[in-house]
Amino acid sequence: MTTYEEIFENNRIWVERMKERDADFFVKLAADQTPDYLYIGCSDSRVPANEIMGLEPGEVFVHRNVANLVNNTDLNVMAVINFAVKHLYVKHIIVCGHYNCGGVKAALIPKDMGLLNPWLRTIRDVYRMHADELDEITNEQDRYNRLVELNVIEQATNVIKTAAVQKMFHKHGYPVVHGWVFDLHTGILKDLEINFEQILKNIEKIYNLTGVESEHSEDEDC
Ligand code: CO
Repeated sequence: MTTYEEIFENNRIWVERMKERDADFFVKLAADQTPDYLYIGCSDSRVPANEIMGLEPGEVFVHRNVANLVNNTDLNVMAVINFAVKHLYVKHIIVCGHYNCGGVKAALIPKDMGLLNPWLRTIRDVYRMHADELDEITNEQDRYNRLVELNVIEQATNVIKTAAVQKMFHKHGYPVVHGWVFDLHTGILKDLEINFEQILKNIEKIYNLTGVESEHSEDEDC
């Protein structure tokens, strides 16, 4: 276990290593950020975004919360999406879940979890929407794994429901939204290969926000 003091020693070593590789590393890092990717993942300490994607500092804009949820009323995730899309012009938005997710597991247990109840309810709603498919899976671990995947697909769909994503995509052809799952047992990232354009087309009947324009819409898009 790394001690608190060791963290600063680790940091010093990291700074040296980065400067050895590229003397101007921090000059460039401080200049600007132009990441092509927005990653929305679970807070779980075992799923570090940059590391599993093999990306350097500056290459991915990251938002993490318990069970990688994208709630319409969560100002935090909505601000991240809006900033990443409208100011950083990210080309890809990834919702990444992981098998053995404690948040998803907790949602599978129908009991009072206190403050976590409203948070977990989003996952329980995913279960309700896909109950037919999930209830047919007799193996508990398989059912749990499938709920992890379905949760990713629903949260990616929630990203696609935002006005910021719809408007930017119709104007520029990006960002494209993806759904991934990380496997803690193997370290492998699995692309669920969701069909972004098909999902966009399917939801537009109800969620199309591209036609909603007002004088203030630039700053109010959610
Ligand atoms: Co998790």
